[in-house]
Amino acid sequence: MIPQSYIQEVLERNDVVDVVQSYVQLRHRGRTYTGLCPFHNEKTPSFVVYPDTQSFYCFGCGAGGDTITFMKKIANLDYVEAVKSLASRAGMPLPQENDETGRQRSRILAMNKDAARYFYDQLNTNQPQAAQARAYWHRRGLSDNTIRRFGLGYAPDDFNGLQRHLRQRGYTDQEMLEAGLIKRSQKGNLHNTFWNRVMTPIIDLRGNVIAFGGRVLDDSKPKYVNSPETLVYKKSKTLFALNVAKKDPSRRYILCEGYMDVISLHQAGFGTAVCACGTALTEEQVKLLTNYADEVVLAYDSDEAGQKATARSLELFRNTAIKVTVLNIPGAKDPDEFIKRNGADAFGRLLDKSANGIEYNLDKLRAKYDLSTDSGKVEYVRDAVTLLASGLTPTEREIYAGRISEQTNVSKATILNQLESTVRRVSDRQRRQRQKDLQKEMLPAQIKVPHSLGGEKALAAVSGEQQLLAAMLKDPSIIPGIRERVDPQELVMPEDQALCRVLYSMPPQTGPGILATLGSQLDEGQMALAAQLLARNSDNPLTPKDVELFIQRIKQRTASQRQAPQSEEEMRRRLADLTKAKTQSNTQS
Ligand code: CTP
Ligand code: MN
Repeated sequence: MIPQSYIQEVLERNDVVDVVQSYVQLRHRGRTYTGLCPFHNEKTPSFVVYPDTQSFYCFGCGAGGDTITFMKKIANLDYVEAVKSLASRAGMPLPQENDETGRQRSRILAMNKDAARYFYDQLNTNQPQAAQARAYWHRRGLSDNTIRRFGLGYAPDDFNGLQRHLRQRGYTDQEMLEAGLIKRSQKGNLHNTFWNRVMTPIIDLRGNVIAFGGRVLDDSKPKYVNSPETLVYKKSKTLFALNVAKKDPSRRYILCEGYMDVISLHQAGFGTAVCACGTALTEEQVKLLTNYADEVVLAYDSDEAGQKATARSLELFRNTAIKVTVLNIPGAKDPDEFIKRNGADAFGRLLDKSANGIEYNLDKLRAKYDLSTDSGKVEYVRDAVTLLASGLTPTEREIYAGRISEQTNVSKATILNQLESTVRRVSDRQRRQRQKDLQKEMLPAQIKVPHSLGGEKALAAVSGEQQLLAAMLKDPSIIPGIRERVDPQELVMPEDQALCRVLYSMPPQTGPGILATLGSQLDEGQMALAAQLLARNSDNPLTPKDVELFIQRIKQRTASQRQAPQSEEEMRRRLADLTKAKTQSNTQS
């Protein structure tokens, strides 16, 4: 654990407005600052920073928290990394990491490194199995140099080889389980996660081995087995080979679907190829890429799944600073196969011809309609105009309107005209939707209480309990008094109960912002809830009188609940009467 006093100091030296301002353009508005939310795409600002409480909250997407939460989210870091990064921003010496998680983390990393070494060594023994594995990599066109560079290996066809090896090196079974290197079978036996597979280590930006991907040597299923998520491995935040790609001076990245594509592209001299690890691309990975890439070429498989993934990824890159183009890979299923057939130079030419996202989508649209007929033209223009109506600069609109005009012989002026009215309609609609969303977010009465927790009936109590939490967050000195009177169990919503417990267990408040003190005890959702409550009540004084009212609302519900068993009994009796009546009527008919 990093000492609380250290975290306090980090926060004292990093004002939330300063930190946010280095990522987001903020505008002063009264006691708060607003800007465009960096955590979702938006055109009108709903992201608010509160210097008073040293917190931020987005009324659009619900992201919120303190300065550390902001760092975590914006730079894709975990809690400890975020604290360290803020510390170095303020020129502070780093904290001693002697905490339990830190220790566990470094054990897993050391073990992964040993395991990678083991897989590599197993590839190079004189066993027949090993020869087969080497032959496999060679058949896939990889040189020994590439195998070495990527640390590729082989997991032999046995149940416990790696486990025995790691035990010898002093690791416990528990640790191996935590690293995802062994698994417990349904019968309860421990066995290797990977066997009889060629192995690709996944390495993070600091050079740590954080996970593995293992592929069968033939066509059996499943083709790939990947490490589970662990303390050191978060799939949604990892891009395979980014550790290598970041050293390449080029800022044009190639985003592929699989490990094999990436490795074979690197071997062919394309040093900026990366891929997600067996999952669809995430917003976090896109954000990570913006640190390294100005341009991304999507080089997914040419099958239907690949095309779907392309469309989804294009969406994710929309409104980022990255320019996206899409590769069309003719006559091959993926970049790996294309290079094997046609060579690196041909792939390079393909890259230069890759179409940008709009061109790609326009081409796909055009293929849908028969442009030799009038109705085909009309429908194409209508759909194309809708496609161009959001997220483009006026210059881009000019250019594509011109292109559509050439394709259809409809005058450019007409197309631009239609485009303008569509743009207006779309942005009107977006504005109205935003207003609605905002109102929804701002209105405490809109809280949704699940039916099982009392539904509408519990609404007054829920709004009361949330306001009470807000009051405690704003003025922690009232906490001891409230703790005497309200039991967390009296609150309706589980998340409110959890936040309440944390508040009750808090040491007397010192230093800036209560969120800072709570920071390490709240998960992301609880942190966002706390930030939301503060944001909603930023201009509400929440007097002792108000607090009384909130407590009364909570007590009213608990009082009515105490009578519940009686009425339930009564309900059951009535129900029994009803069924009796019904069976009677049934037998009569
Ligand atoms: N994948 C997976 N599990 C599977 C199949 C695929 O996790 N059963 C992931 C892997 O990360 C793989 C990526 O999806 O790298 C792309 O799948 P695919 O196109 O089938 O992989 P290729 O790299 O083309 O595999 P290969 O060329 O080795 O057949
Ligand atoms: Mn593939």
